[in-house]
Amino acid sequence: MKKVTTPEQVRKAINRAKEKGLSIGLVPTMGALHEGHESLVRMSLDETDFTAVSIFVNPVQFGPGEDLAAYPRSLDDDTLLLESLGVDLLFVPEVSSIYSGEEATEFLVKGLGDGLCGASRPGHFHGVLLVVTKLFNMVRPDIGFFGQKDAQQAVIIQRMVTDLDFPVRIRLGSTVRETDGLAMSSRNAYLDAGERKSAASLNGGLRLAFEKVKGGERDADVIREIIRGSMESGGFDVDYCEVVSGMDLKRLERLEGTVLLAAAGRLGKTRLIDNISMRITGDSVTEIVLEFPEWSRYEWE
Ligand code: PAJ
Repeated sequence: MKKVTTPEQVRKAINRAKEKGLSIGLVPTMGALHEGHESLVRMSLDETDFTAVSIFVNPVQFGPGEDLAAYPRSLDDDTLLLESLGVDLLFVPEVSSIYSGEEATEFLVKGLGDGLCGASRPGHFHGVLLVVTKLFNMVRPDIGFFGQKDAQQAVIIQRMVTDLDFPVRIRLGSTVRETDGLAMSSRNAYLDAGERKSAASLNGGLRLAFEKVKGGERDADVIREIIRGSMESGGFDVDYCEVVSGMDLKRLERLEGTVLLAAAGRLGKTRLIDNISMRITGDSVTEIVLEFPEWSRYEWE
């Protein structure tokens, strides 16, 4: 595995891979790697010839008062893990090699970026799209790999890629969970033992709601209340419990088509998010990982 720190070194390594005709996969991360990240890396190793992983705690996507300084960092362990998986290129830039500090371009994805996490984290998705665009332009991947865990982030990235004709395909990996259902997250490290136990009520609420949908419930208010009830009884300070379209993230009154149940809340100082997405056709309800092939102008094999 080659480890590089500057965009120029990335460009050279990628040029070399492209000259050999290799297809490139990119897994962008903020490090503190867990099995969720690992599953995306494995997808990239499976589906492309040359896998690049970036580790960059992106300051622009953190708001004032958020956990930028405290964000967990474990670069040595991360490096060993990626090396053992067989990653080809690890990109670990300094903030100054990504940002000049004079960036004036702002990303706004109308309708998709203002609800859910966008409502309580203004500017967050601008920061995500800015860094993802920069990474795409540096690495020029054929496929970018992202997690269903951050469904709104994934939908917004796919929307931008479609709208702006980025020559990259977006693939999503399913959410990897602890045995009690808690979605793996670098932020789980903040939880104390009591909070860690309570945290299962987030996925518990989503699961309960999903079972209700499978049983025929289609009223979004009922579903939202089930999720909220479970989170509140687990001690969460609920940020949102939403039932939205999995295509355009619009709030639904009745569940049909591609549906995303999404929730976020705080346990103490730790903010956690989770979701379940599903396809509903008549009586049939199937859990899915979101994908948007119909949005693409390109024919991907
Ligand atoms: P980070 O939180 O490190 O996550 C990196 C990728 O791993 C994201 O695509 C995320 O959705 C995915 N991921 C996180 N937890 C997961 C889980 N339990 N199962 C499967 N996949 C999971 O998301 C970011 O970083 C940043 O916003 C980034 C895209 C790197 C831009 O800075």
